[in-house]
Amino acid sequence: SDTLRAHAEARGKFIGTAVATSQLANESTYRTIAASEFSQITAENAMKWDATEPSQNQFNFSGADQVVAFAEANDQQVHGHTLVWHSQTPSWVQNLGADAMRSAMQNHIARVVGRYASNPVLKSWDVVNEVFEENGSLRNSFWYQRLGESYIADAFRAARAADPDARLCINDYNVEGVNAKSTAMYNLVRSLRAQNVPVDCVGLQSHLAIQYGFPNVQENMQRFADLGVEVRVTELDVRMQTPRNTTKDTTQATYYSNVVKACVAVSRCSGVTIWGFTDRYSWVPDTFPGEGAALIYDENYGEKPSYTAVHDAL
Ligand code: XIL
Repeated sequence: SDTLRAHAEARGKFIGTAVATSQLANESTYRTIAASEFSQITAENAMKWDATEPSQNQFNFSGADQVVAFAEANDQQVHGHTLVWHSQTPSWVQNLGADAMRSAMQNHIARVVGRYASNPVLKSWDVVNEVFEENGSLRNSFWYQRLGESYIADAFRAARAADPDARLCINDYNVEGVNAKSTAMYNLVRSLRAQNVPVDCVGLQSHLAIQYGFPNVQENMQRFADLGVEVRVTELDVRMQTPRNTTKDTTQATYYSNVVKACVAVSRCSGVTIWGFTDRYSWVPDTFPGEGAALIYDENYGEKPSYTAVHDAL
């Protein structure tokens, strides 16, 4: 039928959405759209460290398993998000000394990736998330402070060992266009691969805003593709200052269209995931006061111009 996922499949791409476990459990309209329109899902929070290992070696896969079960039931893929991040990571991790922190990271990756390694629906992971500062330096996170840059290579090696078949990604925001941060990412990926560190994929989060202009996404995707890595758009949303109006909706639709068209144009771009689908549930208003309306369905599950833009670009 005439769904986003049918169009994406015809292009050989995935179209994904982030999903929240409470809405998956409680809302049939949410479930229906998530299942019918999207071929891939990402857990919005359920696979993060604070959810999966809230205290040391006490793993909780209830939310993660719920997301995987939904994908299995609906013939979808799951993109694993995320293993090593400075945010949503318990303080017990942050307070470890260097050797213990490295071991905890390796154990976490072995257990979380290992749980799904034999499951054909989950074949990609964001191994490290948001490791750069805006100027292209490595982020001065607790990981970096304790372990230096070696934690990045160690994380990829641990993930490869836990699932030799999964595509392993480095993921970040404000790396959609060519700029200092994306160039640092490009240089790191090239250097890691030259050292045989298993980096397969680059994730461009793509949290865009209409007031900041549209980045040169296709040119940037192409330079990563030319390194031989897979590229994916992992967390697309396009926020605006609220309230919506027709002019802003039209601009937003153009942004969505241009991101999807860039991915269609770059053969190593495997697909586009939107960070949710309905404005009823989006991280944007909580994180950027005064901004919102960033997704492709309105708060009542009505299709917006941005929905049509994605549909027609696929
Ligand atoms: C956000 C979720 O959407 C929120 O529900 C949560 O409170 C905070 O995290 N970059 C990422 C995502 O990699 O994991 C973030 O998700 C959004 C920014």
